[in-house]
Amino acid sequence: MKIEFSSPALPSSGALVFLVEKGAELTGLAKAADAAVSGVLAKAAKVARFTGAKGQTVEIVAPVGIDADRVVLFGIGDAAKLSDADWVALGAGIYANLEKSGSEAVTLAAEGFAEHALDMAEGLKLRAWRFDRYRTKEPKSKLPTLKNATVAVEGAEAIAAAFVGRAEVVEGVFLTRELVSEPANVLYPESFADRIRELDAVGIEVTVLGEEEMEKLGMGALLGVGQGSARESQLAIMRWNGAGDDSQPIAFVGKGVTFDTGGISLKPGAGMEQMKWDMGGAGTVVGLMRALAGRKAKVNVVAVVGLVENMPGSNAQRPGDVVTSMSGQTIEVINTDAEGRLVLADALWYCQQEFKPKFMIDLATLTGAIIISLGHEHAGIFTDDDEIAGGLSTAGADTGDKVWRMPLHANYDKLINCAIADMKNIGDRGAGSITAAQFLKRYSNKVPWAHIDIAGTVWSDKNLPLSEKGGTGHGVRLLDRFVADNYEK
Ligand code: BES
Ligand code: MN
Ligand code: ZN
Repeated sequence: MKIEFSSPALPSSGALVFLVEKGAELTGLAKAADAAVSGVLAKAAKVARFTGAKGQTVEIVAPVGIDADRVVLFGIGDAAKLSDADWVALGAGIYANLEKSGSEAVTLAAEGFAEHALDMAEGLKLRAWRFDRYRTKEPKSKLPTLKNATVAVEGAEAIAAAFVGRAEVVEGVFLTRELVSEPANVLYPESFADRIRELDAVGIEVTVLGEEEMEKLGMGALLGVGQGSARESQLAIMRWNGAGDDSQPIAFVGKGVTFDTGGISLKPGAGMEQMKWDMGGAGTVVGLMRALAGRKAKVNVVAVVGLVENMPGSNAQRPGDVVTSMSGQTIEVINTDAEGRLVLADALWYCQQEFKPKFMIDLATLTGAIIISLGHEHAGIFTDDDEIAGGLSTAGADTGDKVWRMPLHANYDKLINCAIADMKNIGDRGAGSITAAQFLKRYSNKVPWAHIDIAGTVWSDKNLPLSEKGGTGHGVRLLDRFVADNYEK
């Protein structure tokens, strides 16, 4: 999707969209267009009972008197009541409405809404992404036609300049969506690491550790998960030094289980294909790094992602095995399907030891239980740090990547105490997302830390306001905003 900005004017082709508030008359460019088509717009609005209520639309195809191939009136309700996230969703809704309409371009008349032009443009771009790498036979009639958008608005030049950074963040979202969409025969630890290496093109330093190096570091928890797989486990480390000094970095850590069969504690077959996106935490961290580097964020950031495949096999770890993590803490692996926390235990420990970061935030598709708690709307955040929790909640509300704080407490921590090792990798039936978080906390070594369980938000089985069904990229815009608002110079 190509997005441009221009001064308000009627276009010479393509679709033309006007935003109409509830109860409002057609004004400005809309009024001029209505006059040019002999009042058909106002008449169409009337006969369709269009009031401008939020979500209402009226479409006039092939109007006579203007060059546009269609005009759409978009009801936006009371503009003063729309949040930034609503404006992004509105832009996305305009794309979705016209995607397969036959029009190849859209002009969004945003007169009077200049302060929301960036958000709407971001929404248009976000919604236009699709993953069609493996579709070879889609009939032309089903392919999207819409390719270009022009936001017609006062002060277009300055808005276009400001959009450059936004567009980079959206590219980060796209990278995340692509990574989570790739099947596990294509995206496995080594090929994932190769994709991460490509980020040196945007100025990110990438280092990748293989199994031998991780063995030397004593990463028995991570390596135990990967040992049943024919694919070699990897630990990828990314650095973006945008602060211009050697100030203490902030850190992001991701679970990158490129496929989670459950291991010997095998998952049921139905729906198992979904576990290709069990690398969503790593995918989000990688997309975030792409976003931050793309817009040249003035901050030092490190990211560590643990990339493993969880397979059953003759060399797979068994329930009851005891592994020693890099921290020295031992873990009885009661259930080989609770593998994400084993991967993160070593990735988190490595991150704090190597980089002494200001804080660490890990992202992981960690538990099915978080979907029971929060469904597919909010990701769950777990932290003892009220400032980080507050910053994440605000960034969530502002971007629409919603998060909800969940509790941590010493009483939950007791549930993972173990008779024969320092801890076991699962708790009882209850509070599955919380005991998982308590487990991770034991590997933060008192560095300020937050965990985001994104199992419910990484992927969607239905179309969403900002994304077609599939990978959502949820978390990239959240953390980009969190960093921009709190940690940049
Ligand atoms: N990757 C899963 C969590 C998950 C489940 C993500 C469904 C997305 C959708 C994780 O590795 C897992 O298997 N967790 C277990 C933990 C249990 C064995 C304590 C779970 O949630 O069932
Ligand atoms: Mn699992
Ligand atoms: Zn998993």
